Amino acid sequence: MQRTAKILVTGANGMLGRDLVAVLADSRVTALGRQELDIRDADAADAAVAGHDVVVNCAAFTRVDEAESKSDDAFAVNAAGAGNLAAAAARHGATLVHVSTDYVFDGTSSVPYAEDSPMRPLSVYGRSKAEGERRAASLNPGRTIVVRTAWLYGENGPSFPSTMLRLADQGSSIRVVDDQFGQPTWTRDVAHHIARLLESGIHSGTFHATNSGATSRFEFARAILQLGGFDTNILIPIPSTQLVERAARPRYSVLGHDAWSAAGLTPMRDWRSALAEAMEQGALTTP
Ligand SMILES: NC(=O)c1ccc[n+]([C@@H]2O[C@H](COP(=O)([O-])OP(=O)(O)OC[C@H]3O[C@@H](n4cnc5c(N)ncnc54)[C@H](OP(=O)(O)O)[C@@H]3O)[C@@H](O)[C@H]2O)c1
Repeated sequence: MQRTAKILVTGANGMLGRDLVAVLADSRVTALGRQELDIRDADAADAAVAGHDVVVNCAAFTRVDEAESKSDDAFAVNAAGAGNLAAAAARHGATLVHVSTDYVFDGTSSVPYAEDSPMRPLSVYGRSKAEGERRAASLNPGRTIVVRTAWLYGENGPSFPSTMLRLADQGSSIRVVDDQFGQPTWTRDVAHHIARLLESGIHSGTFHATNSGATSRFEFARAILQLGGFDTNILIPIPSTQLVERAARPRYSVLGHDAWSAAGLTPMRDWRSALAEAMEQGALTTP
């Protein structure tokens, strides 16, 4: 991507969208939140994409449990909305960077999911995101990059770390599942890696934008409390079966990073180093 490339960011007021807009500050960026562009509206999507070289879609229906009873709403945004942007990108010769999720996998693996592993989502949210990936790639062939991320936290949204810090601050004991494994990931690191992808001139493929390493939810909580200076003895490990959640989550959704190296790019750093920096910078809110 040239420095003069015009970039449209959708879902620009979300947790990732805000960090991405901040990271791309030097470039020519149009940042549209849901109020300015509802990606479910195909005509509005087409008009917004016109004149841009790149579209980064950070807009999504992200309430995983709510999606179970609002399947139409989830698919309207995550599948049809992604399709609208891809069709518009194809008409205007733009590259689409479509953000997706580890929840497209079923979690039965015991080794990291490769970029081309078959998608087998467990939840409505996961199915809607998988369909979004398919539509994005098929409607803008050769010019769609899928960027899957996972377990996000950041300055601009409620997240697992901010919840842990709030509960610890209240002095409550906290029950955390110890049988779900994944990659805690800082939105700012994802934003920087999307920027690197754009600079690299790559126009297609699937990349896993997660911090490296892997951990359980319980160990993630422990690291957060340790860094926050709280007593980690307030944490109680529980199995997922004791958690009442409407949507099924993958037990193991660690994502492999081979595509970065194959493209001559460096995978994202270790999750502990990212978490430490995020906390040091005060990037985790305690809502
Ligand atoms: N958070 C995670 O742990 C996680 C994990 C894996 C993948 N992801 C993916 O990462 C991406 C960014 O997620 P995030 O955590 O930044 O989520 P987020 O904070 O919920 O941001 C999503 C944004 O999309 C907006 N939006 C919803 N419907 C829209 C529509 N029809 N048209 C335009 N904008 C719409 C939302 O606006 P409203 O708030 O007004 O609805 C919100 O600002 C998504 O693709 C998500 O699936 C997230």
